[in-house]
Amino acid sequence: MSDEVLSAVGVRVVHRSRRRELVAVERADIRLMAGQTTAVVGESGSGKTSLAMVAARLAMPSEGVVTLKGEVLGARLTLDQRADIQVIFQDAKSALDPRQTVQAGLAELRRIHEPRTDWIADEDLLSLVGLTAELLARRPHQLSGGQAQRVYIARALLLRPAVLIADEPTSALDMTVRRKIVDLLAELQARYSIAILLVTHDLAIVPTIAQQVHVMLRGSFVESGSPGDIFANPGHPYTNRLLAAAHGRLTSTESQKA
Ligand SMILES: Nc1ncnc2c1ncn2[C@@H]1O[C@H](COP(=O)(O)OP(=O)(O)OP(=O)(O)O)[C@@H](O)[C@H]1O
Ligand SMILES: [Mg+2]
Repeated sequence: MSDEVLSAVGVRVVHRSRRRELVAVERADIRLMAGQTTAVVGESGSGKTSLAMVAARLAMPSEGVVTLKGEVLGARLTLDQRADIQVIFQDAKSALDPRQTVQAGLAELRRIHEPRTDWIADEDLLSLVGLTAELLARRPHQLSGGQAQRVYIARALLLRPAVLIADEPTSALDMTVRRKIVDLLAELQARYSIAILLVTHDLAIVPTIAQQVHVMLRGSFVESGSPGDIFANPGHPYTNRLLAAAHGRLTSTESQKA
């Protein structure tokens, strides 16, 4: 398969603390394709972040193999491999260095990835994520949650990654901003042909952006397929429960607004 960018196969994640072992991922396989989004949905504690951390190479699996562009990833990544796998989290604001302006943060990334020379200019980068150059001089506390998430996405884009791992990227945002961030991710993905792994509680955003969805329960996928098929015809009672819960959440938010 020529357009497979990242795969994580046979992944098992066991968290060990002093006295016990907890199997967070029983066994999971994911394959991320260029220009496509794979979503992982599931209840809290089902193992989504544990799996995403392995795919992002921020954690080693207890078992399983991760490949990037056909190469098996070892414990240490090269600078290029690090640039190729970018991660965005829920709370962009606290992930940004509080002392650093947006511009200083971008300059630091360029220094780290020094061998690269064909950088996009700050102003163009910000405009790609729908921000004005005026924000370059700001520190994280001077940004709204939505702006901080856009800055974080801009930082990831600066490195022109092949893969973007997004763990609950919209959960800290309100409804209207959420939708805009999802639209932005979809637009950037189409433009740069990025492979996205989207971990989310927010089932409503999945059909908009994902071509494939895995439903995760206690460390395993209970269903996988296209969001259209799975959400229209859930084959597992757990998927039904997630859909019902998501629906309930939507209606309670709407009624709060009314
Ligand atoms: N570093 C860790 N050490 C020990 N246990 C952990 C660690 N990280 C996660 N766990 C446990 O592994 C299980 C899966 O956690 P994980 O964070 O992957 O779930 P999740 O699906 O991302 O949940 P949420 O939707 O709440 O973010 C949980 O029982 C959690 O307590
Ligand atoms: Mg999580």
